[in-house]
Amino acid sequence: MERQPPSQFIPVARLSDLDPRGRAVVTVEGERVALVRIEGEVFAVQDTCPHRGGPLSEGDLEGYVLHCPLHAWPFDVRSGLCPIIRGARIRTYPVRVVGEEIQVAPFSGRVSAP
Ligand code: FES
Repeated sequence: MERQPPSQFIPVARLSDLDPRGRAVVTVEGERVALVRIEGEVFAVQDTCPHRGGPLSEGDLEGYVLHCPLHAWPFDVRSGLCPIIRGARIRTYPVRVVGEEIQVAPFSGRVSAP
């Protein structure tokens, strides 16, 4: 995950905003972003699947891999890469937690669908 200067992080939610599965959807610069907590660490990825727009925040997790609820494309929340569809990728956002506040840095990488 790319490092960002501290000034680029913006508060998007509080830890208490995560649902019992450790999920929440927020908006960062006009984009829906899924927050996903895995073993105490919070990850932020684009919520809209690059295949046909499924809500990734509603998908099932297998380790660090989030499966789209519509057609099960898998995406690693750490890298954004899809391990089975060559070239498919979702945006990932740097995250930090300050006290109870979840902060996300706006996306600065690239995203693609095959
Ligand atoms: S919409 Fe996500 S796999 Fe089809």
